[in-house]
Amino acid sequence: MIKKCLFPAAGYGTRFLPATKATPKEMLPILTKPLIQYGVEEAMEAGIDQMAIVTGRGKRAIEDHFDISYELETQLKGNSKEELLKEIREVITKCTFSYTRQIEMKGLGHAILTGQTLIGNEPFAVILADDLCYNENSSVLAQMVEVYKKYQCCVVAIEEVAKEDTNKYGVIDGKLIDDSDNIYRVSTMVEKPEPKDAPSNLAIIGRYILTPDIFDIISQTKPGRGGEIQITDALMELAKVGKVIAYKFEGKRFDCGSVDGFVEATNFFYKKVC
Ligand code: UTP
Repeated sequence: MIKKCLFPAAGYGTRFLPATKATPKEMLPILTKPLIQYGVEEAMEAGIDQMAIVTGRGKRAIEDHFDISYELETQLKGNSKEELLKEIREVITKCTFSYTRQIEMKGLGHAILTGQTLIGNEPFAVILADDLCYNENSSVLAQMVEVYKKYQCCVVAIEEVAKEDTNKYGVIDGKLIDDSDNIYRVSTMVEKPEPKDAPSNLAIIGRYILTPDIFDIISQTKPGRGGEIQITDALMELAKVGKVIAYKFEGKRFDCGSVDGFVEATNFFYKKVC
């Protein structure tokens, strides 16, 4: 039912300078795989095979990654190292990739609006590849697709964070529904509130399922916190009419946009494979 996944990947990644001066943050690897490939594989686990990527200047390595490298393929053919290309080859053959550029970095909401040309008029998923999610059985996005099937409205993934960290996230308030202990009908959303102003400690992480009416709303959303067009502000309009669900997912999330989270993810995946 959800066929497309949008990857806003135009940000500057300033917390990783100088590494991100000429290399996209999304191409930084956890072990041997770039962050964005983890994201694409998560989308595939949710049954999605059309990847739509919003890039910006200096991000061409992403397009090259999801393409054949004939020289490399020829060089490694019949060699024991050929196996190392197997995973990415599978991704490339099973999915399509389309790209558009965000000309000015005006915030996540604006990046999502830029992706409208790739998405069209249908519900779609959004993955922020610098939030790396892991769950043994069902990927976080696959869990969210199930929630979407039931409620047929926007779904945001949330997790509990330390109260002093609310100013790093969009924070929601809402009511648990349908006797669940992990699904909320959202009543309020605030972008990066100071702990004293936060409506809860339930923070939105980088996974969304959005309905296409969000595009018109974003195009009317004024710049908010930090002078950027915030997806949280746009979603608040839908929350007012009860059309946003927050889902406390099962699994782990690593904030790989921060050095601490990146190191934590590296250690976690290293322990899993070695
Ligand atoms: P971040 O807030 O992590 O910003 O964006 P950033 O530029 O990537 O990193 P720092 O804070 O400077 O280190 C969250 C997500 O939204 C995308 C980013 O690429 C990232 O996936 N984004 C953000 C855009 O695509 N465009 C924007 O204008 C802003």
